[in-house]
Amino acid sequence: MAIIIDGKAIAARVREDAGLCTQKLKSRGITPCLAVILVGDNPASVSYVTGKEKALAEAGMDGRDLRLPAATSEAELLAHIAKMNDDDTVHGILVQLPLPPHINEDRIIQAISPKKDVDGFHPVSVGNMVLGRPGFLPCTPNGIVYLLKEMKIKTAGAHAVILGRSNIVGKPLANLLIRRDVNATVTICHTGTPDFSVYTKQADILIAAAGKPGLVSAGMVKPGAAVIDVGVNRVPDASKKSGFILRGDVDYDAVEKTAGWITPVPGGVGPMTIAMLMRNVVEAAGNTV
Ligand code: GUN
Repeated sequence: MAIIIDGKAIAARVREDAGLCTQKLKSRGITPCLAVILVGDNPASVSYVTGKEKALAEAGMDGRDLRLPAATSEAELLAHIAKMNDDDTVHGILVQLPLPPHINEDRIIQAISPKKDVDGFHPVSVGNMVLGRPGFLPCTPNGIVYLLKEMKIKTAGAHAVILGRSNIVGKPLANLLIRRDVNATVTICHTGTPDFSVYTKQADILIAAAGKPGLVSAGMVKPGAAVIDVGVNRVPDASKKSGFILRGDVDYDAVEKTAGWITPVPGGVGPMTIAMLMRNVVEAAGNTV
């Protein structure tokens, strides 16, 4: 039976700490403020944005909530970002992804000032991360590394296998895991990998970020491995009021029997993303002092 990694509890402590830092900044006349921009009404995005706004309020920070219709043009969105870049009372800017298909995501991300890029998605932030220079680290990968450290899972010399090569999780996570303070050996599997189970079976740490419910079965996991599930898949379920259940990329019930550690969905990685975002907002506000 695996040790369950309680991301919710660990995230609560990080958020509490961000709240204390917020109080200190407030006593110096600065209230950390994050502008959260949502274009359209993708249900998952609405739920994520609502969670971020709740966390801001709980930590005593300001949230500048901007909800725009799906038909918003790229030029309009860029104009909003330019205004927030120039607003000294806004310390962080987050544009919830994905954006509607008529908006170029790269152009939007690049329009955000790197000083306010609390998502860590701007090419300047990505460059700083890869080079090990100071800068904002992307929240989900940073949260995963935090969980591994908090649970005292041995990473030095460990083989970490990542399923998925997204800009948000797979690519940045690989970079954080090879940093000297983590010191893992990393393999990234993706849709071009013929038989990824060859690699997953060798993983001391397996991170599933493919966006495919139940992709990782027990037979793909080395006994005793740490299994980190980044998947948040909405699977239709008529017995639920919402009409769906959340399922991770890992077949939890089967893998939990043989893994050494496992993150649940929900309550594993998800809460850590928000907690690390709160930290980044505090840092962004502190940088202005
Ligand atoms: N969509 C899915 N994850 C994220 C995230 O961490 N930040 C933003 N802005 N959008 C997302």
